[in-house]
Amino acid sequence: MSIISKDIKKAVAILNNEELVAIPTETVYGLAGNIFSEKAIQSIFTTKKRPFFNPLIVHIPNLEYLENVVSYIPEKAKTLAQHFWPGSMTLVLPKRDSIPDVITAGKDTVAVRIPNHPVTLELLNQLDFPLAAPSANPFNSISPTKPDHVEQYFKNDIKMILDGGACRNGIESTIIGFENDEPIIYRLGALAIEDIETVVGKVVLKNKKEQNPDAPGMLKKHYSPNTLTVLTQDIKSEIKNHPNKKIGVLSFYNSFKNDDITKEIILSTNKDLKEATSKLYNALHELDQLDLDIIITEKLPDIGLGKSINDRLSRASS
Ligand code: TXA
Ligand code: MG
Repeated sequence: MSIISKDIKKAVAILNNEELVAIPTETVYGLAGNIFSEKAIQSIFTTKKRPFFNPLIVHIPNLEYLENVVSYIPEKAKTLAQHFWPGSMTLVLPKRDSIPDVITAGKDTVAVRIPNHPVTLELLNQLDFPLAAPSANPFNSISPTKPDHVEQYFKNDIKMILDGGACRNGIESTIIGFENDEPIIYRLGALAIEDIETVVGKVVLKNKKEQNPDAPGMLKKHYSPNTLTVLTQDIKSEIKNHPNKKIGVLSFYNSFKNDDITKEIILSTNKDLKEATSKLYNALHELDQLDLDIIITEKLPDIGLGKSINDRLSRASS
């Protein structure tokens, strides 16, 4: 048996035993448990210190499985599912009665997606139940894109981190809900709005920074490093605002390196937004480890994945 299939077998046993496994996806690592196990779901919330009002995403193995989870699928949801799954898109749809209230925080809708990672797809195929999996980080902190990040957070709390390498996309899925059958973006993410619009036409963005947002994970402050973080259009002048401080810089493609900067990370010297997205969280993790006084981050062009990155950076700096 290959190492990977051995690991998957071990993960299956742990999950069947109502315990948790950190799983790789193409977006970020998830902290996964059986959606029908009260025990497993409770441990997800306690391990993450996540408030119970924040519902979980249900991960399913294939499109056929969708109707076991949801009771109604609008036409445009079908089109999106056929087009983008497996992939970095989560659909929020009316739930079936069989989906426990703890998963949905009492809502009558459920968030669901088919992740696009070979290891986790194989795992899902070997299980008799879907997996609830929030990002594998403590509430409000930076999501993990590598097994190391998960280990730093939860070394002593979980039985297994299923290693699937670094996450290819590196930012959470885009969450789409429906109002009167029309798609509404609840959370910007790894699938760009422009790509969604080529398939279903213009969509409405409701990705607000509110106290009680539609997707509760969209609180104003979220995805935060422990280090004070600011977001700016103009890194050079921002550096001047912080004399005698240990400064970290996260820039899109330019280097601002000078004696005032302790550490600089450039996301993509080719100005490639996809590359920048995939490196974003790892860079924030790295800067956050350095005992800096401040992390200065650069606002990216507000197009495509740049919108999603700006969304996360503005929450990180709230
Ligand atoms: O990429 C991802 O989506 C990752 C990987 C592991 O799949 N998961 C993830 O889960 O980011 P989490 O729990 O960190 O974020 C889930 C978001 C939360 O903001 C939650 O409020 C929202 O989904 N959500 C879940 N169910 C919902 C529902 N019924 N209506 C609206 N929003 C919902
Ligand atoms: Mg999260």
